[in-house]
Amino acid sequence: MQYIPGFGNECASEDPRCPGALPEGQNNPQVCPYNLYAEQLSGSAFTCPRSTNKRSWLYRILPSVCHKPFESIDQGHVTHNWDEVDPDPNQLRWKPFEIPKASQKKVDFVSGLHTLCGAGDIRSNNGLAIHIFLCNTSMGNRCFYNSDGDFLIVPQKGKLLIYTEFGKMLVQPNEICVIQRGMRFSIDVFEENRGYILEVYGVHFELPDLGPIGANGLANPRDFLIPVAWYEDRQVPGGYTVINKYQGKLFAAKQNVSPFNVVAWHGNYTPYKYNLENFMVINSVAFDHADPSIFTVLTAKSVRPGVAVADFVIFPPRWGVADKTFRPPYYHRNCMSEFMGLIKGHYEAKQGEFLPGGGSLHSSMTPHGPDADCFEKASKAKLAPERIADGTMAFMFESSLSMAVTKWGLKSSSCLDENYYKCWEPLKSHFTPESRKPAGPN
Ligand SMILES: [Fe+2]
Repeated sequence: MQYIPGFGNECASEDPRCPGALPEGQNNPQVCPYNLYAEQLSGSAFTCPRSTNKRSWLYRILPSVCHKPFESIDQGHVTHNWDEVDPDPNQLRWKPFEIPKASQKKVDFVSGLHTLCGAGDIRSNNGLAIHIFLCNTSMGNRCFYNSDGDFLIVPQKGKLLIYTEFGKMLVQPNEICVIQRGMRFSIDVFEENRGYILEVYGVHFELPDLGPIGANGLANPRDFLIPVAWYEDRQVPGGYTVINKYQGKLFAAKQNVSPFNVVAWHGNYTPYKYNLENFMVINSVAFDHADPSIFTVLTAKSVRPGVAVADFVIFPPRWGVADKTFRPPYYHRNCMSEFMGLIKGHYEAKQGEFLPGGGSLHSSMTPHGPDADCFEKASKAKLAPERIADGTMAFMFESSLSMAVTKWGLKSSSCLDENYYKCWEPLKSHFTPESRKPAGPN
């Protein structure tokens, strides 16, 4: 696999089988080299400021318009109906979402999409959805594109070989990829697969501003990887199916050729992937905590300064060195909604039932924090420099929107952990009104 490094750059790529496939000096010649069709894919309004203007030019064997009409298909568990069930402000935790066995039912990436929670409105391009994908079969002669928003895909189990109009990407657990609005892709899998998807409507992910951190740190732009042009000139006599999510509903159209027929492309609107191991972690080196925003990999900004539609935040392996500090995450209540998932290992603040492939949701102003066991241990621990989170990778999708949980999330997934609240029940008062002296480590 070859990739072009960098985030959001203006790139150009030609399949080496057709050197010179990109037109010279213009985008739309009367006849393109190799007699290809020129097609623009716009990811922003034509008139956006340069810093946010996104588009790519694709040079392809046939334009994407060569398809039969779209028809509505079974929605499966994809929804944008945020009123399916009554709101639930409780702390919610899910056991690992169950992957269907290939021997019982073949499920590909699209038919294995399950909407867990979300908020906002697709038609006005404001909101987000969190989906869980559970699949065991490659998509074959099916591709998918999303008219509603961008997908940030977090594989948790099994690698994904993703064919896109821009080329191929191999994305393994502990890597993520972003496939932006309108881009067609098809996923091959090699085992039973599970993962998480953060979908944002009408905005794109950006690297967070670094402020006083400076020019380097957190996710560095050079570590993002963009595929290189690759095409197949493949006729599909039985019909190739293009699946589209449009205004929250699924539609399918047939065409006679593979959609991965782009011989060359240039532009700044592309899919990309990122290895979470490359995240440069910044943390407190004196006392107290930095807020978890210090772990932001990508952000999808809202129109309000500093307020994200959604942030993608990770809790990577690192050193904990803060003196005189309760080192696990602090207890808190947050105006934002926090969905957490676990790719591998265990999460530092919850030793028990928060497992890889599961999740938790702490909604707006719902209190949460370390479980009782974690509190007792961390309050008494001798503070020496220590490794935190080795062999693990927990992450958070954090949103300024107040999310609704779907019927699948609360009921039909059968994964909701009814006992979650009990992890805080053993917390007891240590109040000593007669003495100001903290108990401290033994
Ligand atoms: Fe939190």
